[in-house]
Amino acid sequence: MLNTQELDQRAREIIRQNDMGGYTVPTHGLYPYQWNWDSAFSAWGTATFDTTTGWAEMETLMNAQWDTGMVPHIVFHKLDPGYFPGPDVWQTGHTPPTSGITQPPVAASMVKLMMLDDSENGLQKARDLFPKLKAWHAWFMRERCESGAVAIMHPWESGRDNARDWDGAMANIDPSNVGEYTRRDTSHVDSSMRPTKEDYDRFITLVHQGRDLHWDQSKIREQGYFRVACPGMTFILMRANLDLAIIAKSLGEPTDEIDAWSETLQKGATTLWNAERQHYDSLDLRTGEFAGCLSNASFLCWYGDAGNDTMFEHYERVLSISKYPVPSLDPADPHFDSLRYWRGPTWGIINTLIGQGFHYNGYDDKATTLRKATADLIQEHGFAEYFDPNNGQPAGGSDFTWTAAIWLAWASPSAPQTLDSE
Ligand code: DGY
Repeated sequence: MLNTQELDQRAREIIRQNDMGGYTVPTHGLYPYQWNWDSAFSAWGTATFDTTTGWAEMETLMNAQWDTGMVPHIVFHKLDPGYFPGPDVWQTGHTPPTSGITQPPVAASMVKLMMLDDSENGLQKARDLFPKLKAWHAWFMRERCESGAVAIMHPWESGRDNARDWDGAMANIDPSNVGEYTRRDTSHVDSSMRPTKEDYDRFITLVHQGRDLHWDQSKIREQGYFRVACPGMTFILMRANLDLAIIAKSLGEPTDEIDAWSETLQKGATTLWNAERQHYDSLDLRTGEFAGCLSNASFLCWYGDAGNDTMFEHYERVLSISKYPVPSLDPADPHFDSLRYWRGPTWGIINTLIGQGFHYNGYDDKATTLRKATADLIQEHGFAEYFDPNNGQPAGGSDFTWTAAIWLAWASPSAPQTLDSE
Protein backbone atom coordinates (compact mmCIF):
# COMPACT_ATOMS: atom_id res chain seq x y z
CA MET A 1 0.00 0.00 0.00
CA LEU A 2 1.34 3.45 -0.87
CA ASN A 3 1.87 5.99 1.92
CA THR A 4 0.48 9.54 1.89
CA GLN A 5 3.49 11.03 0.14
CA GLU A 6 3.50 8.33 -2.54
CA LEU A 7 -0.25 8.72 -3.05
CA ASP A 8 0.12 12.50 -3.39
CA GLN A 9 2.82 11.87 -5.97
CA ARG A 10 0.69 9.31 -7.84
CA ALA A 11 -2.30 11.69 -7.88
CA ARG A 12 -0.18 14.46 -9.40
CA GLU A 13 1.12 12.01 -12.03
CA ILE A 14 -2.43 11.00 -12.98
CA ILE A 15 -3.45 14.62 -13.43
CA ARG A 16 -0.37 15.32 -15.52
CA GLN A 17 -1.01 12.23 -17.66
CA ASN A 18 -4.60 13.36 -18.27
CA ASP A 19 -3.55 16.94 -19.06
CA MET A 20 -4.19 17.75 -22.70
CA GLY A 21 -2.82 21.31 -22.54
CA GLY A 22 -5.31 23.79 -21.06
CA TYR A 23 -7.67 21.09 -19.80
CA THR A 24 -7.69 17.50 -18.51
CA VAL A 25 -9.67 14.51 -19.71
CA PRO A 26 -11.45 12.56 -16.93
CA THR A 27 -9.54 9.46 -18.05
CA HIS A 28 -8.03 8.40 -21.35
CA GLY A 29 -10.18 6.16 -23.56
CA LEU A 30 -13.58 6.24 -21.85
CA TYR A 31 -13.88 10.05 -21.66
CA PRO A 32 -11.52 11.71 -24.17
CA TYR A 33 -12.87 15.29 -23.91
CA GLN A 34 -13.29 18.04 -21.32
CA TRP A 35 -16.25 17.34 -19.02
CA ASN A 36 -17.73 20.24 -17.10
CA TRP A 37 -17.77 19.18 -13.45
CA ASP A 38 -14.81 16.84 -13.87
CA SER A 39 -12.90 19.84 -15.08
CA ALA A 40 -13.88 22.03 -12.13
CA PHE A 41 -12.74 19.36 -9.65
CA SER A 42 -9.59 18.90 -11.69
CA ALA A 43 -8.80 22.63 -11.60
CA TRP A 44 -9.14 22.61 -7.80
CA GLY A 45 -6.93 19.51 -7.37
CA THR A 46 -4.35 20.74 -9.88
CA ALA A 47 -4.13 24.11 -8.14
CA THR A 48 -2.78 22.36 -5.01
CA PHE A 49 0.52 21.89 -6.85
CA ASP A 50 0.31 24.11 -9.96
CA THR A 51 -1.95 27.16 -9.69
CA THR A 52 -1.27 28.35 -13.27
CA THR A 53 -2.45 25.07 -14.79
CA GLY A 54 -5.41 24.84 -12.39
CA TRP A 55 -6.67 28.32 -13.32
CA ALA A 56 -6.07 27.60 -17.03
CA GLU A 57 -8.38 24.57 -16.82
CA MET A 58 -11.13 26.66 -15.24
CA GLU A 59 -10.68 29.35 -17.90
CA THR A 60 -10.82 26.83 -20.76
CA LEU A 61 -14.08 25.47 -19.36
CA MET A 62 -15.69 28.87 -18.92
CA ASN A 63 -14.52 29.97 -22.38
CA ALA A 64 -16.83 27.31 -23.83
CA GLN A 65 -19.84 29.10 -22.32
CA TRP A 66 -22.76 29.72 -24.67
CA ASP A 67 -24.15 33.22 -25.24
CA THR A 68 -27.19 32.13 -23.23
CA GLY A 69 -24.97 31.65 -20.17
CA MET A 70 -25.12 27.86 -20.21
CA VAL A 71 -21.80 26.09 -19.70
CA PRO A 72 -21.97 22.83 -21.67
CA HIS A 73 -21.33 19.41 -20.18
CA ILE A 74 -18.71 18.36 -22.77
CA VAL A 75 -16.29 20.47 -24.79
CA PHE A 76 -15.05 18.53 -27.82
CA HIS A 77 -11.62 20.07 -28.27
CA LYS A 78 -10.04 17.41 -30.50
CA LEU A 79 -12.15 14.83 -32.29
CA ASP A 80 -11.86 11.33 -30.86
CA PRO A 81 -13.66 8.44 -32.57
CA GLY A 82 -13.47 6.42 -29.33
CA TYR A 83 -16.39 8.38 -27.82
CA PHE A 84 -20.08 8.35 -28.70
CA PRO A 85 -22.11 10.59 -29.01
CA GLY A 86 -19.67 13.06 -30.55
CA PRO A 87 -20.28 16.57 -31.94
CA ASP A 88 -21.83 15.22 -35.15
CA VAL A 89 -24.69 13.81 -33.05
CA TRP A 90 -25.19 16.87 -30.82
CA GLN A 91 -25.04 19.38 -33.70
CA THR A 92 -25.00 22.45 -31.49
CA GLY A 93 -23.18 24.62 -34.03
CA HIS A 94 -20.87 26.02 -31.36
CA THR A 95 -17.18 26.83 -31.55
CA PRO A 96 -15.49 25.02 -29.90
CA PRO A 97 -17.94 22.17 -30.52
CA THR A 98 -19.86 21.25 -27.38
CA SER A 99 -22.74 19.11 -26.19
CA GLY A 100 -26.14 20.83 -25.80
CA ILE A 101 -26.77 20.24 -22.10
CA THR A 102 -25.12 21.32 -18.87
CA GLN A 103 -23.78 19.61 -15.72
CA PRO A 104 -23.68 20.23 -11.94
CA PRO A 105 -22.44 23.81 -11.37
CA VAL A 106 -19.60 23.13 -8.93
CA ALA A 107 -17.31 25.61 -10.71
CA ALA A 108 -18.07 28.69 -8.55
CA SER A 109 -17.40 26.68 -5.40
CA MET A 110 -14.09 25.45 -6.78
CA VAL A 111 -13.17 28.99 -7.85
CA LYS A 112 -13.88 30.22 -4.33
CA LEU A 113 -11.61 27.56 -2.84
CA MET A 114 -8.88 28.26 -5.39
CA MET A 115 -9.17 32.00 -4.78
CA LEU A 116 -8.75 31.55 -1.02
CA ASP A 117 -5.70 29.35 -1.53
CA ASP A 118 -3.94 31.57 -4.06
CA SER A 119 -2.93 34.78 -2.33
CA GLU A 120 -0.92 35.92 -5.33
CA ASN A 121 -3.35 35.69 -8.27
CA GLY A 122 -6.56 34.40 -6.72
CA LEU A 123 -8.48 37.67 -6.63
CA GLN A 124 -7.58 38.63 -10.18
CA LYS A 125 -8.50 35.19 -11.54
CA ALA A 126 -11.78 35.24 -9.64
CA ARG A 127 -12.47 38.74 -11.00
CA ASP A 128 -12.02 37.49 -14.57
CA LEU A 129 -14.24 34.46 -14.03
CA PHE A 130 -16.95 36.09 -11.91
CA PRO A 131 -19.15 37.50 -14.75
CA LYS A 132 -19.18 34.13 -16.51
CA LEU A 133 -20.02 32.20 -13.37
CA LYS A 134 -22.78 34.65 -12.58
CA ALA A 135 -24.20 34.40 -16.10
CA TRP A 136 -24.26 30.61 -15.79
CA HIS A 137 -26.11 30.74 -12.46
CA ALA A 138 -28.52 33.30 -13.94
CA TRP A 139 -29.18 30.83 -16.78
CA PHE A 140 -30.07 28.13 -14.25
CA MET A 141 -32.38 30.46 -12.36
CA ARG A 142 -34.06 31.64 -15.57
CA GLU A 143 -34.34 28.39 -17.52
CA ARG A 144 -34.39 25.59 -14.97
CA CYS A 145 -36.01 26.70 -11.74
CA GLU A 146 -39.65 26.95 -12.67
CA SER A 147 -40.61 24.68 -9.74
CA GLY A 148 -38.16 26.40 -7.38
CA ALA A 149 -35.76 23.44 -7.50
CA VAL A 150 -33.33 22.81 -10.38
CA ALA A 151 -34.75 20.74 -13.23
CA ILE A 152 -32.72 18.62 -15.62
CA MET A 153 -33.72 17.84 -19.20
CA HIS A 154 -31.40 14.84 -19.59
CA PRO A 155 -30.08 12.42 -16.94
CA TRP A 156 -26.54 13.27 -18.08
CA GLU A 157 -27.06 16.82 -16.78
CA SER A 158 -27.20 15.53 -13.21
CA GLY A 159 -23.86 13.77 -13.68
CA ARG A 160 -25.63 10.73 -12.19
CA ASP A 161 -26.47 9.23 -15.55
CA ASN A 162 -28.26 6.00 -14.67
CA ALA A 163 -29.40 6.84 -11.13
CA ARG A 164 -32.50 5.07 -9.89
CA ASP A 165 -33.95 8.61 -9.56
CA TRP A 166 -34.70 8.69 -13.29
CA ASP A 167 -36.32 5.26 -13.71
CA GLY A 168 -39.91 6.52 -13.65
CA ALA A 169 -39.30 9.41 -16.03
CA MET A 170 -37.15 7.27 -18.32
CA ALA A 171 -39.91 4.66 -18.55
CA ASN A 172 -42.13 7.32 -20.12
CA ILE A 173 -39.71 7.90 -23.02
CA ASP A 174 -40.38 5.98 -26.21
CA PRO A 175 -36.98 5.03 -27.67
CA SER A 176 -38.31 3.13 -30.69
CA ASN A 177 -37.05 5.74 -33.19
CA VAL A 178 -33.52 5.90 -31.85
CA GLY A 179 -32.08 4.14 -34.91
CA GLU A 180 -28.77 2.34 -35.20
CA TYR A 181 -25.81 3.51 -33.16
CA THR A 182 -22.70 1.99 -31.64
CA ARG A 183 -21.90 2.55 -27.98
CA ARG A 184 -18.23 3.12 -27.27
CA ASP A 185 -18.26 3.16 -23.45
CA THR A 186 -18.64 -0.62 -23.17
CA SER A 187 -15.54 -1.16 -25.31
CA HIS A 188 -13.54 0.62 -22.57
CA VAL A 189 -15.28 -0.65 -19.42
CA ASP A 190 -17.14 -3.87 -18.53
CA SER A 191 -20.82 -3.51 -19.39
CA SER A 192 -21.87 -4.63 -15.88
CA MET A 193 -20.45 -1.33 -14.60
CA ARG A 194 -22.20 0.88 -17.15
CA PRO A 195 -25.78 1.97 -17.92
CA THR A 196 -27.96 -0.64 -19.65
CA LYS A 197 -28.97 -0.56 -23.34
CA GLU A 198 -32.51 0.45 -22.30
CA ASP A 199 -31.00 3.52 -20.61
CA TYR A 200 -28.72 4.29 -23.52
CA ASP A 201 -31.50 4.17 -26.11
CA ARG A 202 -33.30 6.80 -24.06
CA PHE A 203 -30.17 8.92 -23.51
CA ILE A 204 -29.68 9.08 -27.28
CA THR A 205 -33.38 9.67 -27.96
CA LEU A 206 -33.18 12.75 -25.71
CA VAL A 207 -30.08 14.00 -27.53
CA HIS A 208 -31.91 13.62 -30.86
CA GLN A 209 -34.89 15.53 -29.49
CA GLY A 210 -32.72 18.39 -28.19
CA ARG A 211 -30.95 18.59 -31.54
CA ASP A 212 -34.30 18.66 -33.40
CA LEU A 213 -35.44 21.50 -31.12
CA HIS A 214 -32.15 23.33 -31.84
CA TRP A 215 -31.30 23.25 -28.13
CA ASP A 216 -33.92 25.94 -27.51
CA GLN A 217 -34.59 25.87 -23.75
CA SER A 218 -38.20 27.04 -23.86
CA LYS A 219 -39.09 24.44 -26.49
CA ILE A 220 -37.27 21.71 -24.57
CA ARG A 221 -39.08 22.80 -21.40
CA GLU A 222 -42.44 22.56 -23.16
CA GLN A 223 -41.91 19.50 -25.34
CA GLY A 224 -39.02 17.63 -23.73
CA TYR A 225 -39.63 13.97 -22.94
CA PHE A 226 -37.76 14.32 -19.64
CA ARG A 227 -37.99 17.05 -16.97
CA VAL A 228 -37.05 16.10 -13.43
CA ALA A 229 -36.16 18.30 -10.45
CA CYS A 230 -32.94 16.93 -9.00
CA PRO A 231 -31.76 17.22 -5.38
CA GLY A 232 -28.10 16.97 -6.44
CA MET A 233 -28.33 19.86 -8.90
CA THR A 234 -30.42 21.90 -6.47
CA PHE A 235 -28.12 21.51 -3.45
CA ILE A 236 -25.02 22.06 -5.60
CA LEU A 237 -26.43 25.29 -7.06
CA MET A 238 -27.42 26.41 -3.56
CA ARG A 239 -23.83 26.07 -2.35
CA ALA A 240 -22.53 27.56 -5.59
CA ASN A 241 -24.68 30.67 -5.08
CA LEU A 242 -23.44 31.06 -1.50
CA ASP A 243 -19.87 30.74 -2.78
CA LEU A 244 -20.53 33.14 -5.65
CA ALA A 245 -21.73 35.68 -3.09
CA ILE A 246 -18.49 35.19 -1.14
CA ILE A 247 -16.50 35.79 -4.32
CA ALA A 248 -18.63 38.88 -5.05
CA LYS A 249 -17.94 40.30 -1.59
CA SER A 250 -14.20 39.73 -1.99
CA LEU A 251 -14.37 41.66 -5.25
CA GLY A 252 -16.53 44.45 -3.86
CA GLU A 253 -19.41 43.46 -6.15
CA PRO A 254 -23.08 43.64 -5.04
CA THR A 255 -24.67 40.38 -3.87
CA ASP A 256 -28.40 41.29 -3.89
CA GLU A 257 -29.28 39.30 -6.99
CA ILE A 258 -27.30 36.27 -5.86
CA ASP A 259 -28.85 36.45 -2.38
CA ALA A 260 -32.31 36.48 -3.97
CA TRP A 261 -31.40 33.31 -5.92
CA SER A 262 -30.37 31.68 -2.66
CA GLU A 263 -33.74 32.51 -1.13
CA THR A 264 -35.62 31.12 -4.12
CA LEU A 265 -33.70 27.86 -3.95
CA GLN A 266 -34.09 27.54 -0.17
CA LYS A 267 -37.84 27.55 -0.74
CA GLY A 268 -37.53 25.42 -3.87
CA ALA A 269 -35.60 22.71 -2.05
CA THR A 270 -38.62 22.10 0.20
CA THR A 271 -40.53 20.86 -2.88
CA LEU A 272 -38.07 17.95 -3.02
CA TRP A 273 -39.01 16.70 0.43
CA ASN A 274 -40.85 13.42 0.01
CA ALA A 275 -43.12 13.58 3.07
CA GLU A 276 -44.26 9.99 2.72
CA ARG A 277 -40.74 8.57 2.71
CA GLN A 278 -39.28 11.39 4.84
CA HIS A 279 -36.26 12.26 2.73
CA TYR A 280 -35.16 14.48 -0.15
CA ASP A 281 -36.04 12.91 -3.46
CA SER A 282 -36.17 13.61 -7.21
CA LEU A 283 -39.47 14.92 -8.54
CA ASP A 284 -40.74 14.22 -12.05
CA LEU A 285 -42.12 17.60 -13.17
CA ARG A 286 -44.10 16.05 -16.02
CA THR A 287 -46.08 13.68 -13.78
CA GLY A 288 -45.69 15.29 -10.34
CA GLU A 289 -44.41 11.98 -8.95
CA PHE A 290 -41.48 11.46 -6.63
CA ALA A 291 -38.88 8.89 -7.63
CA GLY A 292 -39.05 7.29 -4.18
CA CYS A 293 -35.34 6.82 -3.90
CA LEU A 294 -32.68 7.80 -1.40
CA SER A 295 -29.38 8.52 -3.14
CA ASN A 296 -26.06 10.09 -2.26
CA ALA A 297 -27.42 13.27 -3.91
CA SER A 298 -30.08 13.42 -1.18
CA PHE A 299 -27.18 13.59 1.30
CA LEU A 300 -25.94 16.77 -0.35
CA CYS A 301 -28.66 18.56 1.67
CA TRP A 302 -26.07 19.86 4.16
CA TYR A 303 -23.96 21.09 1.26
CA GLY A 304 -27.01 23.17 0.26
CA ASP A 305 -27.63 24.21 3.90
CA ALA A 306 -30.90 22.27 3.91
CA GLY A 307 -29.99 19.32 6.13
CA ASN A 308 -32.13 18.07 9.01
CA ASP A 309 -32.22 15.42 11.74
CA THR A 310 -34.29 12.98 9.72
CA MET A 311 -31.68 13.02 6.97
CA PHE A 312 -29.04 12.28 9.62
CA GLU A 313 -31.01 9.17 10.61
CA HIS A 314 -31.01 7.98 6.99
CA TYR A 315 -27.32 8.78 6.68
CA GLU A 316 -26.39 6.80 9.79
CA ARG A 317 -28.44 3.82 8.67
CA VAL A 318 -26.89 3.81 5.18
CA LEU A 319 -23.41 4.10 6.69
CA SER A 320 -24.08 1.22 9.06
CA ILE A 321 -24.65 -1.12 6.09
CA SER A 322 -21.86 0.17 3.82
CA LYS A 323 -18.26 -0.81 4.42
CA TYR A 324 -17.05 1.91 2.03
CA PRO A 325 -19.54 4.78 2.14
CA VAL A 326 -21.35 6.73 0.72
CA PRO A 327 -23.19 4.45 -1.76
CA SER A 328 -24.97 6.23 -4.61
CA LEU A 329 -28.17 4.34 -3.77
CA ASP A 330 -29.52 3.16 -0.44
CA PRO A 331 -28.33 -0.49 -0.16
CA ALA A 332 -31.79 -1.35 1.20
CA ASP A 333 -33.34 -0.32 -2.13
CA PRO A 334 -34.22 -3.42 -4.20
CA HIS A 335 -32.58 -1.76 -7.23
CA PHE A 336 -29.22 -1.38 -5.50
CA ASP A 337 -26.45 -2.69 -7.78
CA SER A 338 -23.04 -2.35 -6.14
CA LEU A 339 -21.01 -1.99 -9.36
CA ARG A 340 -23.38 -0.32 -11.81
CA TYR A 341 -22.28 3.29 -12.04
CA TRP A 342 -24.80 5.47 -10.13
CA ARG A 343 -27.01 2.64 -8.88
CA GLY A 344 -24.86 1.68 -5.90
CA PRO A 345 -21.15 2.54 -6.20
CA THR A 346 -19.36 5.06 -4.00
CA TRP A 347 -18.00 8.19 -5.66
CA GLY A 348 -15.16 10.19 -4.11
CA ILE A 349 -16.38 13.50 -5.48
CA ILE A 350 -19.82 13.17 -3.90
CA ASN A 351 -18.18 12.16 -0.61
CA THR A 352 -16.14 15.34 -0.85
CA LEU A 353 -19.21 17.53 -1.28
CA ILE A 354 -21.11 15.71 1.48
CA GLY A 355 -18.09 16.16 3.77
CA GLN A 356 -17.84 19.85 2.93
CA GLY A 357 -21.56 20.16 3.66
CA PHE A 358 -21.00 18.70 7.14
CA HIS A 359 -18.15 21.09 7.71
CA TYR A 360 -20.11 24.17 6.59
CA ASN A 361 -22.87 23.22 9.02
CA GLY A 362 -20.56 22.67 11.98
CA TYR A 363 -20.55 18.85 11.96
CA ASP A 364 -16.80 18.55 11.82
CA ASP A 365 -16.70 15.07 13.36
CA LYS A 366 -18.87 13.72 10.60
CA ALA A 367 -16.77 15.56 7.98
CA THR A 368 -13.56 14.11 9.39
CA THR A 369 -14.96 10.56 9.54
CA LEU A 370 -16.11 10.68 5.93
CA ARG A 371 -12.86 12.22 4.77
CA LYS A 372 -10.89 9.46 6.51
CA ALA A 373 -13.16 6.74 5.04
CA THR A 374 -12.62 8.20 1.56
CA ALA A 375 -8.86 8.41 2.09
CA ASP A 376 -8.78 4.75 3.22
CA LEU A 377 -10.80 3.70 0.19
CA ILE A 378 -8.39 5.42 -2.21
CA GLN A 379 -5.33 4.20 -0.34
CA GLU A 380 -6.55 0.59 -0.44
CA HIS A 381 -8.10 0.57 -3.91
CA GLY A 382 -6.53 3.32 -6.02
CA PHE A 383 -7.74 6.26 -8.08
CA ALA A 384 -10.71 4.58 -9.76
CA GLU A 385 -13.74 6.38 -11.17
CA TYR A 386 -15.98 4.76 -8.52
CA PHE A 387 -15.96 1.87 -6.04
CA ASP A 388 -18.08 -1.01 -4.84
CA PRO A 389 -19.37 0.15 -1.40
CA ASN A 390 -19.37 -3.43 -0.06
CA ASN A 391 -15.75 -4.37 -0.72
CA GLY A 392 -14.08 -1.28 -2.23
CA GLN A 393 -13.52 -2.94 -5.60
CA PRO A 394 -12.37 -0.25 -8.06
CA ALA A 395 -14.79 0.18 -10.97
CA GLY A 396 -15.31 2.17 -14.17
CA GLY A 397 -12.32 4.06 -15.56
CA SER A 398 -8.95 3.90 -13.82
CA ASP A 399 -6.38 6.66 -13.15
CA PHE A 400 -9.27 9.04 -12.86
CA THR A 401 -8.65 12.78 -12.76
CA TRP A 402 -11.34 13.76 -10.28
CA THR A 403 -10.46 11.02 -7.81
CA ALA A 404 -6.85 12.21 -7.94
CA ALA A 405 -8.05 15.81 -7.59
CA ILE A 406 -10.19 15.26 -4.51
CA TRP A 407 -7.38 13.22 -2.99
CA LEU A 408 -5.00 16.17 -3.32
CA ALA A 409 -7.45 18.90 -2.33
CA TRP A 410 -9.51 17.14 0.33
CA ALA A 411 -8.98 13.46 1.24
CA SER A 412 -5.19 13.32 1.61
CA PRO A 413 -3.89 13.99 5.12
CA SER A 414 -1.70 16.62 3.44
CA ALA A 415 -4.64 18.42 1.75
CA PRO A 416 -4.98 22.16 2.49
CA GLN A 417 -8.52 21.97 3.96
CA THR A 418 -9.35 25.54 3.10
CA LEU A 419 -13.10 25.87 3.14
CA ASP A 420 -13.84 28.84 5.32
CA SER A 421 -14.50 32.10 3.88
CA GLU A 422 -16.33 35.15 4.98
C1 DGY B 1 -21.03 9.28 -20.67
O1 DGY B 1 -20.78 9.31 -21.88
O2 DGY B 1 -21.18 8.24 -20.03
C2 DGY B 1 -21.10 10.52 -19.93
O3 DGY B 1 -21.33 10.32 -18.58
C3 DGY B 1 -22.12 11.44 -20.51
O4 DGY B 1 -21.83 12.66 -19.97
